[in-house]
Amino acid sequence: MKHLKNLLLVVVTLFFAVSLISCGKTEDPIESENENNNSNNENNSNGSNEKPNETSEHKILVAYFSATNTTKRIAELIQEEVEGTLFEIVPVVSYTSADLNYNNSNSRTSLENQDDSIRPEIKGMVENMDQYDVVYIGYPIWFGKAPKPVYTFFESYDFSGKTIIPFCTSGSSSIGSSATYLEKLTKSSTWLSGTRFSSTATQSTIASWIKGLKY
Ligand SMILES: Cc1cc2nc3c(=O)[nH]c(=O)nc-3n(C[C@H](O)[C@H](O)[C@H](O)COP(=O)(O)O)c2cc1C
Repeated sequence: MKHLKNLLLVVVTLFFAVSLISCGKTEDPIESENENNNSNNENNSNGSNEKPNETSEHKILVAYFSATNTTKRIAELIQEEVEGTLFEIVPVVSYTSADLNYNNSNSRTSLENQDDSIRPEIKGMVENMDQYDVVYIGYPIWFGKAPKPVYTFFESYDFSGKTIIPFCTSGSSSIGSSATYLEKLTKSSTWLSGTRFSSTATQSTIASWIKGLKY
């Protein structure tokens, strides 16, 4: 009888001990949610799963020439998107509307187009060009090519090691081989194939073009 009593005491003690241990293990749902949140936050701050925007890894220059502000607007939208530095290529002698008359074979632009050696002088310089590894270059299409001040720009700096991305605006012409002529003025640089934007191109059109570029 004494043995039975002792056995009962042991069983009851064991029952309480097991109950106490399992009570201690019960999860507090709020606390557990917080823990999960904290671990998520840690992942985010590490950025382990998030690929940073590629443009943020580069120092980007957005250079452009524009006689009547169409290309200027596109360049500004690109600059906003990539958060680069904007640089306007400005000829020392600006183009008058008579100069821009492509129907007159004696207009300044017509004459400049016919003479491959012409390099109109341009104002100012890009400050510390060395710091940029990506250069967007924008221009209007003139007679199927880039305007000559853009040629002057390319002959004014060393573009080796840089990635160059041409873009243009035009009445209807594509970018065609306009950038190929410019590429010949540079050494050891990587030229991506360029694109033409219409005068009404939107920020989202430009953003998706940039997203598709590999640099
Ligand atoms: C001298 C000159 C030549 C041009 N030649 C062409 C051409 O060959 N093809 C074309 O589609 N547009 C041509 N255009 C139209 C311009 O490319 C177009 O209006 C451009 O968007 C103007 O850009 P901007 O305002 O930045 O100067 C020409 C314009 C000028 C003034």
